[in-house]
Amino acid sequence: MGVDKLANDVIDEALGCTKIPKHVAIIMDGNGRWAQVRGKRRTFGHKAGVDAVRASVKYARQSGIQSLTLFAFSSENWKRPKEEVGVLMDLFGLVLKSEVKRLHKNDIRLKVIGDLSSFSESLQKKIHKAEALTANNSALTVNIAANYGGRWDIVNAAKQLISKVQSAEIDSSAITEEVFDQHMSTARLPELDLLIRTGGDHRVSNFLLWQCAYAEFYFTDILWPDFNEDAFKAAVEDFSSRQRRFGLTGEQIMTQDPEHKPC
Ligand code: IPE
Ligand code: IPE
Ligand code: MG
Repeated sequence: MGVDKLANDVIDEALGCTKIPKHVAIIMDGNGRWAQVRGKRRTFGHKAGVDAVRASVKYARQSGIQSLTLFAFSSENWKRPKEEVGVLMDLFGLVLKSEVKRLHKNDIRLKVIGDLSSFSESLQKKIHKAEALTANNSALTVNIAANYGGRWDIVNAAKQLISKVQSAEIDSSAITEEVFDQHMSTARLPELDLLIRTGGDHRVSNFLLWQCAYAEFYFTDILWPDFNEDAFKAAVEDFSSRQRRFGLTGEQIMTQDPEHKPC
């Protein structure tokens, strides 16, 4: 790191200029294209993408982000060629096995969100083991969204609430947005602040639909295997420069909450 860059970082920190988002989610897109431009099979890109996952977790841990939610496999991705799905499943199991100790050592909690019932017994076992080992860690929560769909998440919350109403555990009049939120797969995590999508497309692809309500969106053309700590930092700095208004006027934000003033 150059001296100027280091000095700037120190100044930024001293001035508290970078507002660190509490909860960041990433649509890790572009693995297939990254491999194809290198004349390789798509699965080569998925394997290379694991390094970018490691770099993102490292950056999130160092920068004080509390929760990082990574879209690894969507409920629609089952429609891909059988061989690609197979490689993705194997890779998921291998990475879980090889990374969980390192996560635990770094006080990182691992959670997998999505409909896990479609995964093999052995993969489900590995997931539960990794979750149990890291359950009490508190420096960072990493949520892996696997067989996840935003619509599934909403329907799943609705089903849980319906069964609670039917068993008289809760009265339907008590169902507020907050109560509903506590039945989503992201319950007990901070509100989603920043959604990053790599790979150049500008869409949500059935990711955190409910949770996106007031998230800031950041799109980059960088293909996922090339996404590194500097790229993550650039996204956080961009987030930090924005004024979030939550329906208020810019003037209201400036007077009522000077903390939201851009640096
Ligand atoms: C994202 O990369 C990874 C998964 C969806 C599992 P892609 O595989 O979608 O890569 P592109 O978008 O085809 O380049
Ligand atoms: C979204 O990427 C899912 C993941 C990154 C896991 P896709 O590549 O599946 O999204 P679409 O098909 O381009 O919308
Ligand atoms: Mg894609």
